[in-house]
Amino acid sequence: MSKQIVISFSLLVIHVLSFMASAANFSDLFIPVWGSDHIVTQENQTSLYLDQSSGCGFVSKSKYLFGKTTAQIKLVEGDSAGTITAFYLSSEEPYHDELDFEFLGNVSGQPYLIQTNVFVNGTGNREQRHKLWFDPTIGFHNYTFFWNHQYILFQVDDIPIRMYTNEESKGAPFPKSRAMDIHGSLWNGEDWATQGGAIKTNWSNAPFVAKFGSFEVDSCAMAAETQFDVLKCGKKGKFWWDKSTYKKLDKKQQAKLKWAQTNLLEYDYCKDTARFGNQMPKECPKKSTKTK
Ligand SMILES: *[C@@H]1O[C@H](CO)[C@@H](O)[C@H](O)[C@H]1NC(C)=O
Ligand SMILES: *[C@@H]1O[C@H](CO)[C@@H](O)[C@H](O)[C@H]1NC(C)=O
Ligand SMILES: *[C@@H]1O[C@H](CO)[C@@H](O)[C@H](O)[C@H]1NC(C)=O
Ligand SMILES: *[C@@H]1O[C@H](CO)[C@@H](O)[C@H](O)[C@H]1NC(C)=O
Ligand SMILES: *[C@@H]1O[C@H](CO)[C@@H](O)[C@H](O)[C@H]1NC(C)=O
Ligand SMILES: *[C@@H]1O[C@H](CO)[C@@H](O)[C@H](O)[C@H]1NC(C)=O
Repeated sequence: MSKQIVISFSLLVIHVLSFMASAANFSDLFIPVWGSDHIVTQENQTSLYLDQSSGCGFVSKSKYLFGKTTAQIKLVEGDSAGTITAFYLSSEEPYHDELDFEFLGNVSGQPYLIQTNVFVNGTGNREQRHKLWFDPTIGFHNYTFFWNHQYILFQVDDIPIRMYTNEESKGAPFPKSRAMDIHGSLWNGEDWATQGGAIKTNWSNAPFVAKFGSFEVDSCAMAAETQFDVLKCGKKGKFWWDKSTYKKLDKKQQAKLKWAQTNLLEYDYCKDTARFGNQMPKECPKKSTKTK
């Protein structure tokens, strides 16, 4: 009897914490955090503006641990060199965890790059950069973070482009104990964004506009980070994202990831020996020590 009560109590808690927002209203989920006069919300889309006076950014009202978060985004058209549109999850400082999509603009006709990064306990330096297989300025595309105890998947439409697996057994850090806010922003990153910073923002093309469409958040939400909520949300095996089908990628997804890595990957920190020397980060695949 008491066991039953415990079970139904925990189901209730899960129901309250787990939050599904399909095609949610921007203002239900987010508030402007800077440059609020550069954020314009229409019925089903929100435009972020960047000009010489300011860019802008928004943040979610709730914090989330694990789950799946998708934003539909249409990137800055035309000459977007120097601009960075960002969609990211981040916990609070200090020693924060963060998962990033950063869209690096380019001059007209030249391709965007997507930079992804993973911060754990304040340390990032885990960049990958991918090309896209479509023009991201023409229509809305889905950019998704999937996050459970085993891995973090960065997904574009139906294609997983990057997987950061939990390699704690090798001593590598993995984010799992800090709830994250959802952020979006548009800012001037001309120092490094386009062709390594060689091409600066051309302000005669301002204002630059990036559009966010609908959001889908299927995650464990909390109004404020409490140890109680973190423990509940982090409890293994309680939520759909920990089901056995999500312990690893299925064959189809593995094939798609491989395709993305083979055809789209432009930069991988795990291959940057000039940067890390023989101190490669612990999560990077070990190079074969065999010699020919
Ligand atoms: C968002 O809110 C506005 C105003 O309350 C409403 O007119 C609109 O239908 C809502 N849109 C969605 C997608 O819920
Ligand atoms: C996070 O980093 C800080 C500062 O380096 C360190 O004191 C702390 O132990 C780290 N925490 C974890 C969980 O690794
Ligand atoms: C994005 O996801 C929505 C909802 O699942 C879907 O209707 C839409 O076709 C997707 N867009 C693209 C470009 O795949
Ligand atoms: C911009 O275009 C150049 C030339 O095609 C390319 O080398 C670069 O990777 C593109 N993207 C960025 C963000 O610089
Ligand atoms: C900046 O953009 C304007 C308007 O499109 C163009 O005429 C000018 O040549 C551009 N400047 C540079 C340095 O590319
Ligand atoms: C917003 O609504 C308009 C008109 O209903 C539609 O054409 C457009 O595709 C919608 N945009 C998104 C991002 O859902």
